[in-house]
Amino acid sequence: MRRRDFLLAGGAAGAVVAGGILVPVGLVLTDDDDNATGGATNAQLLSFPRVRIGAVSDLAVGEPLFFDYPFEGHSNLVVLVGERILGGIGDGHDIVAFSNQCTHMGCVITEYHPDENVLGPCPCHFSSFDLSRDGIASFGQATQNLPRVLLELDNDDIYATGIFRLVYGHSDNVAGESLVEVRS
Ligand code: FES
Repeated sequence: MRRRDFLLAGGAAGAVVAGGILVPVGLVLTDDDDNATGGATNAQLLSFPRVRIGAVSDLAVGEPLFFDYPFEGHSNLVVLVGERILGGIGDGHDIVAFSNQCTHMGCVITEYHPDENVLGPCPCHFSSFDLSRDGIASFGQATQNLPRVLLELDNDDIYATGIFRLVYGHSDNVAGESLVEVRS
């Protein structure tokens, strides 16, 4: 069977709807040559693991916590920014999470500047990313936004439910590697 999968919108796409609720699904188009319909294009939904990554009460303003998602060993950060961010969760809409793997060549960035809400500079070639503006590259070699982790709040608990944009080095956000285990 020959099969080609195409990821839409930079991979597994999550949808942002009113109220900042993030829907943890991605859309894949498949073009199956053996399909009885004669190679018709079909749509599939991708499911991400829903993983507890921490609690609001664990967060202090400007002090990021790091967690793996959607793959074991793929690092991200969640941060309480202290100011309203588009798509942020929590009472102040000020909790956001992004991959902290540089979109230039994949180096891990741990330096965070809370005064400007900037992640960087990258230790490899100095790219920086503005977490207030959807992780856009604000300086350096990188040209792509950081992948954004979709979050959901359940009382005090914060869950990762998906990731928007392709994880660095991957052509598929939910296949080919060990996904993090679902934890409650
Ligand atoms: S890998 Fe980060 S700037 Fe090159």
